[in-house]
Amino acid sequence: MKPKNDTFLRALLKQPVPYTPIWIMRQAGRYLPEYNQTRTRAGNFLNLCKNPDMATEVTLQPIARFGLDAAILFSDILTIPDAMGLGLYFAEGEGPKFERPLREEWAIRDLTAPDPDTHLRYVLDAVSQIRKALNNEIPLIGFSGSPFTLACYMVEGGGSDDFRTVKTMLYQRPELLHHILQVNAKAVTDYLNAQIQAGAQAVQIFDTWGGMLSSAAYEEFSLAYLRQVVSGLLRDHDGERVPCIVFTKSGGIWLEKIAAIGCDAVGLDWTCDIGEARKRVGGKISLQGNMDPMVLFSGPDAIRKEVQRILVSYGSGSGHVFNLGHGISQFTPPEHVAALVDAVHELSRAFH
Ligand code: CP3
Repeated sequence: MKPKNDTFLRALLKQPVPYTPIWIMRQAGRYLPEYNQTRTRAGNFLNLCKNPDMATEVTLQPIARFGLDAAILFSDILTIPDAMGLGLYFAEGEGPKFERPLREEWAIRDLTAPDPDTHLRYVLDAVSQIRKALNNEIPLIGFSGSPFTLACYMVEGGGSDDFRTVKTMLYQRPELLHHILQVNAKAVTDYLNAQIQAGAQAVQIFDTWGGMLSSAAYEEFSLAYLRQVVSGLLRDHDGERVPCIVFTKSGGIWLEKIAAIGCDAVGLDWTCDIGEARKRVGGKISLQGNMDPMVLFSGPDAIRKEVQRILVSYGSGSGHVFNLGHGISQFTPPEHVAALVDAVHELSRAFH
């Protein structure tokens, strides 16, 4: 069944909309005091992700505050490597880490895609609970990391400044990295399809680190596997089309190539001009983005000005979902998010 507010789904499919819909990457997070409270109650971030009641609660927090046009499942991209047995943990203030990074050839050869129905049941339970709680008011977005971005964390064992370990594997033992990516592509496809079957009405693939590769390596080690995932996705569920968004951070230079892999929309970071991007894809797909998250540290007037600039740049007509160019910062004042959502809704009516 279509949600009451289906502007987000319609914009992704380039169908007419009365205004430009907006959601925000990391909309449920530490900039919200109510999130921090629930997280304290959970003990830590992973417990929060693994408890469907609490994951539902935090998913709904930004929806209750702001007039957002979509909800996104509260989870993390690293649930897949965790389910593969790498032992995910979050060291306070240090970001994600793995107890058993994937470095040895035997471990790589042993790697298998987890069965989402058993190993990631808690995510699917959260999806169905969130769908119930949303009561068909707005659509729910499911998500996954890209095969390459997951491989970065799996091989590095956490975040990295230069991705030296995974890039060394890429140049020295490309067949080993290809093996990991092949397993990851199956894992991501199965995981997203399970989320769709549990009720996700659109999906986004986060390729956060693909943009760190050379153009040749991007095509071979990230884009090829994104294409494989997208072509394996369920595109219809419950009689409705399930749109798919691909977001490669710093991937603006490869926009035409990303647009050609079969996705419905491409997410853009703030470095590219969205109007030029629209011309480059010839209106064939939709675009999502692309305000610099740092604009939210200014004030309501500067936020409105930047919203207007982006709306003018995209121009008239459907096919634009407003978002930030990357996740919202934990230090963002929530009132500025309210100003952003209202500005997008108000100012965009003139473009439809
Ligand atoms: O958008 C949403 O509201 C949905 C939830 C969501 C989270 N992570 C919650 C989260 C989504 C879509 C993600 C995706 C994710 N996770 C990505 C891709 C997007 C991006 O930001 O590039 C990546 C690379 C990760 C891995 C990850 N998870 C990192 C690097 C960190 C630490 C970063 C930090 O800001 O400390 C996380 C933790 C994380 N994931 C938090 C949240 C709300 C903060 C955890 C906390 O409460 O301490």
